[in-house]
Amino acid sequence: MIVLGIETSCDETAAAVVEETADPQHPWRIRSNIVASQASIHQEWGGVVPELSARQHVRDICGVVRRALDEGGIGAYDAIAATQGPGLVGSLLVGLSFAKALAWARAVPFIPVHHLAGHIESLVLEHGELPLPAIVLVVSGGHTSLYRVPAAGRYELLGRTRDDAAGEAFDKVAKLLGLGYPGGPAIDCMARDGRDRAVPFPKTRLTHADRNAPELPGHRDFSFSGLKTSVLRHVTKRRAALGLAEGAPLPASDTADIAASFQRVVVETLLDRLFEVVRWYDARSVGIAGGVSANSRLRIEAAARAASRGLPVYIPALALSTDNAAMIAAAGLRRYRAGFRGSLQENAEATLRLT
Ligand code: KG4
Ligand code: ZN
Repeated sequence: MIVLGIETSCDETAAAVVEETADPQHPWRIRSNIVASQASIHQEWGGVVPELSARQHVRDICGVVRRALDEGGIGAYDAIAATQGPGLVGSLLVGLSFAKALAWARAVPFIPVHHLAGHIESLVLEHGELPLPAIVLVVSGGHTSLYRVPAAGRYELLGRTRDDAAGEAFDKVAKLLGLGYPGGPAIDCMARDGRDRAVPFPKTRLTHADRNAPELPGHRDFSFSGLKTSVLRHVTKRRAALGLAEGAPLPASDTADIAASFQRVVVETLLDRLFEVVRWYDARSVGIAGGVSANSRLRIEAAARAASRGLPVYIPALALSTDNAAMIAAAGLRRYRAGFRGSLQENAEATLRLT
């Protein structure tokens, strides 16, 4: 079976062709994986502008899908999978409508996919089926969520951020430090020259249950907005102490110390919670997916913590950990093989839940 995948939930227009293999341990093979990034469009604004994103998807989608099919070397496919949510609703609508129209025209099944199921299956695309149960942290510009995978294709939400996503915190702090967008890679780079304990930023530890989602025990959730405020307060204080004007850049050594200290706190917060849950559920493997999994400190520390417990930790290469459509095609194949059949009535959902 060959599936065309389409992903337009945020600022990447992506299409991919993925085929099934005969190997149950490595069930999918990527034939093509095309991503058109809108980063340069949003750079100027310091973050993703939803209306600009939707319009750019409209411009790019035909060319991106055509390239995916050309590079995939196929004339026909057996199904189309597209991201249904969560994401920016105007952006989601472009890919979803395109996919539904194409599925109708070609008379092939349409499979709506949850974006985070895609991120989780990106681990399987690259590394093969995970030893189960697995605990997977999806950490990106839009999400910071912990899932338990008790069986292939089953996902249980254990916790998620109550406010900013970790990647969003990286982006906002980078903006504050004048490091540009996207902020994650800039902070990662700057932090190499800094002292990671120079500034004692607090770690936020939620202990109370969330009134809006009582099924989630509070201790499994994340919060990054307090940390962002602490960084802002520290930057303002340092500027005043150095006699700098509001908005003026701090000296490079200050910026490096702030970047390193902030990054240490984010990474420790993520990994403390991740490995608590790993222990609690007696997981047999650990996965990290999403754009922030590119962070060098996160990778090194996750590997060290997993090794000390004798557990394998899986992190996809960058092309599969940032938003892409191969992961959507893979998650779609998984869903289809589990017997799911989508309808052309499905609509884009900005806050879709994964169950
Ligand atoms: O998965 P992704 O490409 O898009 C979504 O948000 O869905 O993730 C992008 C996020 C951005 O917030 C970016 O700053 C962050 O991933 N990021 C990083 C690094 N590389 C990308 N954060 C920390 N360290 C990095 N090296
Ligand atoms: Zn994503």
